[in-house]
Amino acid sequence: MAFTNFQDVIRLIAVSLILLSQLAVSQVTPSIRPFPLNRVRLTNSRWTDNQARTVTYLKFIDVERLLYNFRANHGVSTKGAAALGGWDAPNFPFRTHMQGHFLTAWAYCYASLGDTTCRDRALYFVAELAKCQASNGYLSGFPESDFDLVEARKLTNGNVPYYAVHKTMAGLLDVWQLFDDNTARDVLLKLAGWVDNRTSKLSSAQMQAMLGTEFGGMNDVLADIYHQTGDKRWLTVAQRFDHASVFDPLASNQDRLDGLHANTQVPKWIGAVKEYTSTGASKYLAIARNAWNFTVNAHTYAIGGNSQAEHFRAPNKISGYLSKDTAEGCNTYNMLKLTRELWMTDSSVGDKTHHFDFYERALINHMLGQQNPQDKHGHITYFTSLNPGGRRGVGPAWGGGTWSTDHNSFWCCQGTGIETNTKLMDSVYFTKDEPSSKVLYVNLFTPSVLNWAEQSVTITQTTGFPVEDTTTLLINSTRGDSAGNWALRIRIPSWTSPEAEVRVNGEKVAGLAAVPGTYFPLQRDWKNGDRVTVRLPMFLRAVPANDNPSIAAFAYGPAVLAGNYGDTVLSAVPKLALDTVRRASGDKIEFEVTADSKSVRLQPFYDAHGHNYNVYWATSGRLPA
Ligand SMILES: *[C@@H]1O[C@H](CO)[C@@H](O)[C@H](O)[C@H]1NC(C)=O
Ligand SMILES: *[C@@H]1O[C@H](CO)[C@@H](O)[C@H](O)[C@H]1NC(C)=O
Ligand SMILES: *[C@@H]1O[C@H](CO)[C@@H](O)[C@H](O)[C@H]1NC(C)=O
Repeated sequence: MAFTNFQDVIRLIAVSLILLSQLAVSQVTPSIRPFPLNRVRLTNSRWTDNQARTVTYLKFIDVERLLYNFRANHGVSTKGAAALGGWDAPNFPFRTHMQGHFLTAWAYCYASLGDTTCRDRALYFVAELAKCQASNGYLSGFPESDFDLVEARKLTNGNVPYYAVHKTMAGLLDVWQLFDDNTARDVLLKLAGWVDNRTSKLSSAQMQAMLGTEFGGMNDVLADIYHQTGDKRWLTVAQRFDHASVFDPLASNQDRLDGLHANTQVPKWIGAVKEYTSTGASKYLAIARNAWNFTVNAHTYAIGGNSQAEHFRAPNKISGYLSKDTAEGCNTYNMLKLTRELWMTDSSVGDKTHHFDFYERALINHMLGQQNPQDKHGHITYFTSLNPGGRRGVGPAWGGGTWSTDHNSFWCCQGTGIETNTKLMDSVYFTKDEPSSKVLYVNLFTPSVLNWAEQSVTITQTTGFPVEDTTTLLINSTRGDSAGNWALRIRIPSWTSPEAEVRVNGEKVAGLAAVPGTYFPLQRDWKNGDRVTVRLPMFLRAVPANDNPSIAAFAYGPAVLAGNYGDTVLSAVPKLALDTVRRASGDKIEFEVTADSKSVRLQPFYDAHGHNYNVYWATSGRLPA
């Protein structure tokens, strides 16, 4: 092709650029959607107990003290409030990360429970943040000079200002979305504009160097703002935070996680899913999918947690790292978010349940028991120890060393913990529109009521799961006898047996088997009062360490078991003879075993509180048939 003049060349370039930008941005809409938080109500159970303790803390914490660092940094009166301690102390490198978690947790509390104290706290906090921002145009607990230092790679105080900014932005976004609050919107977009302004001045080499400092999920929240506003500016800023040294190996399916700080990475992968839905670029989906696969299959302990001393170790090195500082809480909070986003988005998953099998495992065995049931404010432990004779709330001093406290901890895991325990209803049910029908997914077996208003039905789930192996779904119609024609898809976990069954009004569904590891599809004309019973037989199984088949944990159904050692100190992994395992109680999950020649009781790990426990054993022989 010959160009006759310069203008033709310019025109051709312009047309190509427009075509390229259209190619680059083609949104993907996940086919599966969650229900709004106010549509799912948890009913009395172990789950609502956790929720109630956290909500008590959300309403107890002194909001003026939480505002201290923002006000002090922006030259606004601190109203005589005292500074807080721990990670919110005025010079601590992670200060003001906690406040964004409170904004999110208050928003969840109001959205799910209609609690007006939570609402008023969130709205007041946002209004006060607006005053801080008005005083000098940005919003942070750090002076702007600290951002200069991070950019110039001259930071010597360990500060992670963008980590905290991410949490603030995520909290503001939740308040904007869940309360429709314009102040939250304005503060958020102004803060995002400030981030754009700063980062647009950096070369890509400077930007990539800066990404060496932990920055939470900046790509995630900015992609969310793009989804919320439709303004491509925010997508451009989100993509500036794509961390090449982490993304590139994952895009080509290489596990280079060994030695990386784990919780620094997972939020970036959640962002990758959002960048995939923003752009349609398959590279982002590959990054998230491969990161999930590596983490779950090569870096995760039986309880669903990952990391040792906050870091990923070599792939499959599980038995070599059974220490006090395993399974940082935040990592699992973030892995659950990643799991949920990927499952909704990755259409190649089909009817396989591995995503929610992992979700259930990590939620029940790690997150549920991370909270102290003896504490009315629901304080949490930073690590969940997997050393022989570990104990919740006892860890290395640098990782808390104890349970979190009201005013002097504010660790990352305390922040993610208040979110976890106020969104326990968010992944039980999902929906999807298929050409032939509407679909309702039941992913978790949690006592709850779903208001599926679009179909004029409520679904009441009743279960003592995981202590009981049965769950009942009662379908009620609000429009008379008929409850409509739609499809139910119930997760049949991979840990159950082919004897799993689904019955409608007591009758087995003809011609349909409940296959472990798939969703049970049930489309029919539903009637008011139809009752679906799901039975998922549980049995005892070993969960061997990836790197050593003779070192194993045990699980009964979804529940990982732990030996109760009282105050006995263990110095090595106990030796357990498999043929000694006996069920100790018919109606509780309790087993009796002989380990190191002593009788030990095994109980669900989520209830292993107030005593030393053991999760991994050196096994010999075979389990009794
Ligand atoms: C962008 O930064 C410059 C200084 O580098 C400042 O003068 C300007 O006001 C900033 N704009 C916004 C929108 O923050
Ligand atoms: C998932 O990760 C495992 C463990 O590293 C690996 O063996 C497997 O090949 C990966 N699967 C895919 C589809 O990449
Ligand atoms: C739901 O159905 C059950 C079983 O028929 C019935 O007992 C109950 O009253 C119904 N509840 C409502 C709200 O219609």
